[in-house]
Order: sequence, then structure tokens, then C-alpha cells
Amino acid sequence: MRTKVAIIGAGPAGLLLGQLLHTYGIDNVILEKHTADYVLARIRAGLLEEGTVGLLDQIGAGQRAHHEGLVHDGIELAFGGSRHRIDMKAFTGKTVMIYGQTEVTLDLMNARRAAGLTTVYEAADVTPLDFDTDHPRVTYVKDGATHAIACDFIAGCDGFHGISRASVKPPAIETFERVYPFGWLGILSDTPPVSHELIYSNHARGFALCTMRSRSRSRYYVQCALDDQVEQWPDDRFWDELRRRLDQKAADSLITGPSIEKSIAPLRSFVAEPMRFGRMFLAGDAAHIVPPTGAKGLNLAASDAHYLASALREYYDEKSSAGIDHYSETALARVWKAVRFSWWMTSILHKFPENGTIGARIQLAELDYVTRSKAAMTSLAENYVGLPF
Ligand code: APR
Ligand code: PHB
Repeated sequence: MRTKVAIIGAGPAGLLLGQLLHTYGIDNVILEKHTADYVLARIRAGLLEEGTVGLLDQIGAGQRAHHEGLVHDGIELAFGGSRHRIDMKAFTGKTVMIYGQTEVTLDLMNARRAAGLTTVYEAADVTPLDFDTDHPRVTYVKDGATHAIACDFIAGCDGFHGISRASVKPPAIETFERVYPFGWLGILSDTPPVSHELIYSNHARGFALCTMRSRSRSRYYVQCALDDQVEQWPDDRFWDELRRRLDQKAADSLITGPSIEKSIAPLRSFVAEPMRFGRMFLAGDAAHIVPPTGAKGLNLAASDAHYLASALREYYDEKSSAGIDHYSETALARVWKAVRFSWWMTSILHKFPENGTIGARIQLAELDYVTRSKAAMTSLAENYVGLPF
């Protein structure tokens, strides 16, 4: 088989890249390790920047998001027993949309199917080869047989644990990492959200987040110990802990019910540099991870896909390598700002026992400042709604 761009991974980064390339007339094949159902069963975050929604519109896959997504003008920060609203629309003119990553992935898969593009699911032993030459290839095993795809470029969109980044050895690649000393325990429940907008809560017992998937489905998170197991968190314990970390009004109006999903995720900041190795590019979680406090993971995957697709369009349409030569630098400039913002949101909202009581008081001072100063609110808002790309 031959294609222009062989994409490894059918998560949001790979699927969006594939559709953008298709709209530019650039053929591509996606190789995905798992089944489509497996990919769709992963529960991830669910907040889209306007720029991300714009990319879905660009490929003709935005209708359902516009119909079912919940548009939010602001968020609330809770600390010291009360809630403080940040009106992002007033400060930036922009909004964000609550629309689950699972739904985004489904819409992208449907668009790909409708366009008749090839996706090989359950492709085992996917291996990017010869990307430091003009003739890269990707090999994989399907139903016991080995196949090879000759291509012009390889796009490594295979997530944090993928093979693409792992195929590059130092000193060609440099990585930067911080692992946070806690995790997020998240649950999904078919109960109405406690509040119409998201509540990010700083509490002496630890961070809590109230978010949602729809008007009848809630998503809640509490900061937990890194070595906690979900079995230690029966629903009642979760609801009690969440209630204790919210302001009185929210605690009193919280509607609880059985969880339909419960999982613990570690928090990490990670960046790999560069994002291009000859004829192989990295995009999305394959290149960087941010803690979910800034809701940036999916949106960075989308901006990478946009930068890469534009660079490849320039290569094929204008016979110019300028875009692909600058891809890594351009993408990383935006990535690092989101890494900075996500780290900062994490640092002001979570309990860091190693920072002591002085650390906790400094957090409260910062939150007080951030919710009173116009300059600080504007800065938070413009990062939260997404920096331009
Ligand atoms: N071969 C083929 N496919 C692979 C391989 C491999 N060796 N390794 C991983 N994959 C697939 C995974 O099964 C997954 O479907 O690559 C895909 C990567 O998808 P994601 O992990 O969702 O990463 P990405 O597309 O970059 O999306 C980033 O996901 O983790 C969230 O918060 C993050 O929302 C952000 C988004
Ligand atoms: C979510 O809806 O799951 C979500 C929203 C905002 C975040 C993190 C997760 O910052």
C-alpha cells in the first residue's frame, strides 16, 4: 500500500489530522492498535475551545457539537467558603463548549467513514521506519500477516504510550517532565449538574471539580492520593468527599446518584522536543501531556493537527517546505503556553502538603487576587478560552 501521510493512532489528533488533510486533497491512512469501540469507550475531558470547534466545522463535523454542546460564558472558582465567577466572555469575547471527547471522536470517525478514507483498526506491531530518509515506511501486523505502507510522511498521533516518540532516541529528542504527587478520581453520573457552569474548588481537603456532559449527566472529580484504588472509593464516600470540598450552597444542592464510570488518573506535565524527526511528526499526547486542570489536552491535539495539516498543504500545493520546517517550533510555542497555564491552574487549586501552611495561604492570596484584579482575570480568561492559532 502507498499513501502520502501514514497516521499512527485514531484518537482525536490522528482523526482530525486525517480529515483536515482530506479537505486539502492529501490522501492518508490511519493505523490504530485498538478497535473503534475501544477508542470510543475511553472517558476523557470534554471542554472545547472555540478554535477547536472551528476546526470541526472546517471539516464538516461540527453539527452535532453545535446542537448538543453546552456553551459556557464563564467558570467559577471556589475557595474560602464562597464562589467567584470569572466572566470569560466579558474579558475575551469568547466562550468554551462542553462536549465530551468521546463525542468528538465519534463525529470524527463518522466523517472519516463518510469520506471513504482507510482506517486499519487492530493493527499490531505498528512500526515507523526510515523516517530519516526520503522513503519512510510503516509496517504493521493484521490478522497474522505483516503489511508495509510506503509514504511521504509519518504522523505520530499515538498518544503518550505510543510507538512513534519511542522510536526516537536521545540526543535526537529531549523530554521535560513533572509528575504531580496526586491523582484525580473522576465519576460520571446520570444526575443534573450541581451548577450550570464549571466549579473549580480549592479546599483544605484537596481540589474538586464540578463539570458535566449534558444537562442530565454530571462529571465530578476530587484530588486523591496517587496510590488510591477505585475500589477504595465507593459512591457514598465519593459524594461525601465532594460535598465537603464545595461551598455550602453547592453542597446543599448537589444531587447524587449511582456512578456509571469511575476512574483515577495521574497528573503529569510532559513535553518532547522537537516535534519533527525528518519525515516523521508528532502531534497531540504523543508529544505532550498537561494536567487536566486547564482543560487543554484535547485542544492542543487539535491545534497540532491544524498546524501540521496546514504545513503539509503548503508542501503539496505550494511546493514549499517552510511550513513543515517550522511545524515543531510553531506547535511548541503554543504547547508551552498551555503547559504553563495548566501547571499554574494546578498549582493554585490543589493541596500540596509539601508546601505547608504558608503554601496554602499563598494560594488563597493568589485566588483572591485572581478573582478581583481585572488584569489577572483577563489573563486567566484568555488562556482558558484558548490562545489563538
Ligand atoms: N500503534 C497504533 N496505534 C496506537 C499505538 C500503536 N503503537 N499506540 C497507541 N495508539 C493509539 C491509541 O490506541 C489511541 O487510540 O493512538 C491513539 C492515541 O489517542 P489519544 O491517546 O486519545 O491521543 P491524542 O489523539 O493525541 O488525543 C489527545 O486525548 O488523552 C487525551 O487529554 C488528552 O484530550 C487529549 C487527547
Ligand atoms: C471535563 O468536563 O471532564 C473537564 C472539564 C474541565 C477540566 C477538566 C475536565 O478542566
